[in-house]
Amino acid sequence: MSIAVAYREPQSVINPREEVLIEGPVEAKDIRVFDMNSKLTNFRKPDQQKKALVEISSLPEGMVYLARYRQEIIGYITFHYPDGYSRWSKHPGILELGAIEISPDWRKCGIGVALLKEAFTNPVMDDYIVLTVEFCWHWDLDNSGLGMFEYQRMLTKLFGAAGLYRRATDDPDITEHPANVLMVRVGENVSQNDRDLFENMLFEHK
Ligand SMILES: CC(C)(COP(=O)(O)OP(=O)(O)OC[C@H]1O[C@@H](n2cnc3c(N)ncnc32)[C@H](O)[C@@H]1OP(=O)(O)O)[C@@H](O)C(=O)NCCC(=O)NCCS
Repeated sequence: MSIAVAYREPQSVINPREEVLIEGPVEAKDIRVFDMNSKLTNFRKPDQQKKALVEISSLPEGMVYLARYRQEIIGYITFHYPDGYSRWSKHPGILELGAIEISPDWRKCGIGVALLKEAFTNPVMDDYIVLTVEFCWHWDLDNSGLGMFEYQRMLTKLFGAAGLYRRATDDPDITEHPANVLMVRVGENVSQNDRDLFENMLFEHK
């Protein structure tokens, strides 16, 4: 497990510069001992999200990275195989970036980018095609102050910091809404066969 550090600059002159640990991939037992920040509610309630993190970390391929302030989880990123119903589950070498969330108390401090970058320092990422299917109905427009397409641009830039880039596809999950985005990073150890298979999967209705 590797550990990096990110910082939040002082919110006022009274508070010191705050140190945030970026750690992972963490094991289920490491997640269980920490508290969840009460505002980690983007996908589900914090206790349910903690349970989901424990479950993902227990999967053979699952990986969870945490952003932690003292004993509190303030953000996380997850990776796992695509769900069985998804088109991408038919490919043997795809890992899905399932979710990234930072508590609204800690956003815009660079923690999202720090988590992503730390996860992609793991050499195993180079063995996979890592993709993320960005559904706009999961986005926190209310807290962000951004419009839907501004939010899309923010995410494209965020994931771009870890080498993911947009790919066009006719996957109905993506085409269901014009703001949805597929982003992909092809690891350098991925075979030509697996690259070709992926290219062919992008458009099934040619
Ligand atoms: C998306 C999310 C993870 C970003 O986390 P974060 O820690 O705030 O991101 P960072 O601070 O690393 O910011 C990355 C870049 O996006 C920009 N950004 C982030 N939020 C922004 C906002 N609300 N308005 C404008 N720019 C924003 C930052 O300024 C930064 O750009 P820069 O490098 O030019 O400064 C966070 O907003 C979040 O948890 N959202 C809810 C869940 C979600 O939408 N997840 C993505 C789908 S799975």
